[in-house]
Amino acid sequence: MKIFLDTADIDEIRTVARWGVLDGVTTNPTLYSKVSGASYEAILQEICKITPGPVSAEVVAEDVEGMLKEGRAFAKLAPNIVVKVPMSEEGLEAMSRFASEGIKTNCTLIFTANQGLLAAKAGASLLSPFVGRLDDINQDGMIVIRELAEIFAIHEIDSEVLAASIRNPVHMTQAALAGAHIATVPFKVLQQMVHHPLTDKGIVQFKADWAKAHEAAAAKA
Ligand code: E4P
Repeated sequence: MKIFLDTADIDEIRTVARWGVLDGVTTNPTLYSKVSGASYEAILQEICKITPGPVSAEVVAEDVEGMLKEGRAFAKLAPNIVVKVPMSEEGLEAMSRFASEGIKTNCTLIFTANQGLLAAKAGASLLSPFVGRLDDINQDGMIVIRELAEIFAIHEIDSEVLAASIRNPVHMTQAALAGAHIATVPFKVLQQMVHHPLTDKGIVQFKADWAKAHEAAAAKA
């Protein structure tokens, strides 16, 4: 399963790139609103310099021509830009037109397998079911991931299932087991995945024992 970082924060992206686990980045207007001081386009260009992986840039227009205008401009920023388009009747048409122009898309705000199936038919490369937001309303978001992964395997569909709206490390394990091709994760959740109390305690203990052993050796010399 590929790991994308769900953020527009350049420092977070640089950090995860250094860890060697960064396969791509997803952004959205909400994530952009949390970082300040630069245009969305400038931030996208900076992100695309850090990772050669897909970088999702979301359109906000609701009409087809508006989506096409925004998406074409994003696609010119860097070769690894993927235009994020919401699931809607207009979104399907825009994704289909982007596909015919060779512009890759990520269909966002997917909450059912049927929506994912339609987005794949329209030509989206990536489909983003929102796991956490479904969990928030007392529905099992992981079911959509499992269903879409199975449908795509049965029908040999090339689009990739991108588990989005990931809220905790358990979601990541579940997404991998459910067959997600990609999961996009907030930086905080990625940090939580790195740590375990026994790992952190073990590191402290080994260091203390090493120092003790050295002191004992020095005292004997
Ligand atoms: C990413 O592509 C999505 O926009 C994001 O994961 C949504 O996450 P949220 O439900 O925590 O806002």
